[in-house]
Amino acid sequence: MRFDVISLFPEMFKAAEHGVTGKALQGKQASLHLWNPRDYTKDNHRTVDDRPYGGGPGMVMKVDPLKAVLQQARQAAPDSRVIYLTPQGQRFDQKAAREMAKRSGIMLLAGRYEGIDERLIDCCVDEEWSIGDYVLSGGELAAMVIMDAVTRLLPGVLGHAESAEQDSYMNGLLDFPQYTRPDDLDGRSVPEVLLSGDHAAIERWRLQQALGRTWLRRPDLLEQRELSAEEQRLLEEFIRTHQGASASS
Ligand code: ADE
Repeated sequence: MRFDVISLFPEMFKAAEHGVTGKALQGKQASLHLWNPRDYTKDNHRTVDDRPYGGGPGMVMKVDPLKAVLQQARQAAPDSRVIYLTPQGQRFDQKAAREMAKRSGIMLLAGRYEGIDERLIDCCVDEEWSIGDYVLSGGELAAMVIMDAVTRLLPGVLGHAESAEQDSYMNGLLDFPQYTRPDDLDGRSVPEVLLSGDHAAIERWRLQQALGRTWLRRPDLLEQRELSAEEQRLLEEFIRTHQGASASS
């Protein structure tokens, strides 16, 4: 997977050299190509911002350096769609990550200031994505979020044990809770089934916890997902137990 990133702060992407993205960059499952609009300015001050037509606070990214950097980057990666990171974009989620992971490359355009000229979006941006309903001071962190979520889905990046298939959201549910040693943590014990060695019972318990937590915390996710008869039964049992527990407390 080829990542091209257009950003005024390419140094921020040093963060991608760590962890799973770092491993993928070293292992050649992913490559990262950084493009700085400032390198495409023509004035002595290397100006990258400009005043908005119509006035108002804040600046807009200057058009000419952006146009020039986009042209160069697109020549280098002609098969990559240009993705502009913006709170106005479509909400990024696991489904989008899975779809992007199938591509040969993506070009991530990180805006700064109040954003970029709308005509540049019209001419040169293929997709607009948001990572959530809040405003970041630039698209860089959003670009890194997308790179991370996509990279860990690439073949050969995660080992079998940490496989992405086992993740929360891969099956449309939140994760079940995890426990590790010690089996007594300041008086709190580990659910007995996890110590039983009964793998089928453990699987059932984990699925029930995932269903139950999703029901409690993200009921919207359950509405988007069909439950099998077994899942329905496990969830109903969870709800009965939960309601019994809250009635007695
Ligand atoms: N740039 C600023 N805020 C953003 C967000 N929430 N998602 C994507 N890009 C952004």
